[in-house]
Amino acid sequence: MKLRFRRTGLSVSLLGLRIEVLISAVALVSSLSSALGQNPNTATQNPNGPLQTPSVGRQNERPAPPVFPPAQVQSGNSLFQQNCAFCHGRDAGGGETGPDLTRSKLVAGDMNGDKIGAVVRNGRPDKGMPRFSLPDTDIAALVAFIQTQKTLSDSQNGKRRGVDVADLQTGSVEAGREYFNGAGACSSCHSPKGDLAGIARRFEGLRLEQRMLYPKDASAKVKVTLRSGESVSGQLAYVDEFTVALRDPSGRYQSWPTSDVKYAVDAPAEAHAALLGKYTDADIHNLMAYLQTLR
Ligand code: HEC
Ligand code: HEC
Repeated sequence: MKLRFRRTGLSVSLLGLRIEVLISAVALVSSLSSALGQNPNTATQNPNGPLQTPSVGRQNERPAPPVFPPAQVQSGNSLFQQNCAFCHGRDAGGGETGPDLTRSKLVAGDMNGDKIGAVVRNGRPDKGMPRFSLPDTDIAALVAFIQTQKTLSDSQNGKRRGVDVADLQTGSVEAGREYFNGAGACSSCHSPKGDLAGIARRFEGLRLEQRMLYPKDASAKVKVTLRSGESVSGQLAYVDEFTVALRDPSGRYQSWPTSDVKYAVDAPAEAHAALLGKYTDADIHNLMAYLQTLR
C-alpha cells in the first residue's frame, strides 16, 4: 500500500490525530478514490442539471437540483468527514470555524465543481480556509456530497440541520445512554458522574454538540526517544511525515527529523475524530438527549 500524506500537518494541528489513524483514513480514501476511478462520474452527472431544465412553470420555482450517483456521494461524504467537517460541520451546514456551505452563494452558482474545486485547490489561507491537493475524482465526489447536502437542506425549507435546538431534543435519552455505555464506548473514557458531570450546565445545545464532536483544546502529548536512548516528553507541537516537535515542560520548542527518532503520540481526543464517520444523525441526537440530562 502506498501511503499519501495529504493533510497531515493540517489535521494534526487541528485535532492531534495519531499517525496510525491518519494512515488508515488515508488508506480508506485511497481505496475509495480508486474504486471511484473505475466508475466514470461524468456520464451520470447532472442528468437533471439546471442547464437542461427550462425555467418555465410557476414563478419562484427553482430548477431541479443536480442528482449524483450514490456511490460518488458516499465517497464524497467520507472525504468531507475527513477533510472538511472539522470546520464546516459534518453535514456541511457550518461549524465553529467554517461557513455553512449549504447556503453559500458560491456553492449555489457552482457548475460541475468549477467554483468549489477552485476554492478547495487554492484555499483562502488568509481567511482560514486551507488549500488541499486532491485528485479530480476526490473533488468531484466532494462536490457531489456538498450539492446533495444543499439539496437536502433546501428541501427542509431553510431549516438548518443540526443547529436547531429542537433538533437537539428529538433524541431518546435511553437510547443515548445505551450508546454511551455500549456501541459508542464513550464510557471507556468518560463518566457521567465524573468528568461529564454537569456538562449540560457548562455547554448548552449546539455548543455541547460541538464539544462532543470536536473537543477543541484537548492537547496531545508526545514522547520522543532519541538514538542515544534518551527520551523527551512534552506537548505535541507539530508532526508530519518528516518532522516531530514538542514543547517541553519548561516551554522550550524542540524538533527532530522523524527518521532520527522514535515517538509515541498520546492524543485521547482523537477517539472523537475516529468516531466522526461512525455516528449516524440518530446516534448524535440520542447522545445529545442523554448528555443534556447531565446537569
Ligand atoms: C480549517 C478550517 C477549514 C477546513 C478544514 C476547510 N474549510 Fe472550507 N472554508 C473555511 C473558511 C474559514 C472559509 C471562509 C473563507 C472566507 O471567509 O472567504 C471556507 C470557505 C469554503 C468555501 C467557499 C464558501 C463560500 O461561500 O465562499 C468552500 C466551497 C469550502 N470552504 C469548501 C471546503 C471543503 C470542500 C473542504 C474540505 C476539502 C474545506 N472547505 C475545508 C474553513 C475551512
Ligand atoms: C478514547 C477516549 C475517548 C472516547 C472513547 C470518547 N471520548 Fe469524549 N473526550 C475525550 C477527550 C480526551 C476529550 C477532551 C477532554 C477535554 O477537552 O477536556 C473528550 C471530550 C468530550 C466532550 C467535551 C467535554 C468537555 O468538558 O468539553 C464530550 C461531551 C465528549 N467527549 C463526549 C463523548 C461521547 C458522547 C463519546 C462516545 C460517543 C466520547 N466522548 C468518546 C476522550 C474520549
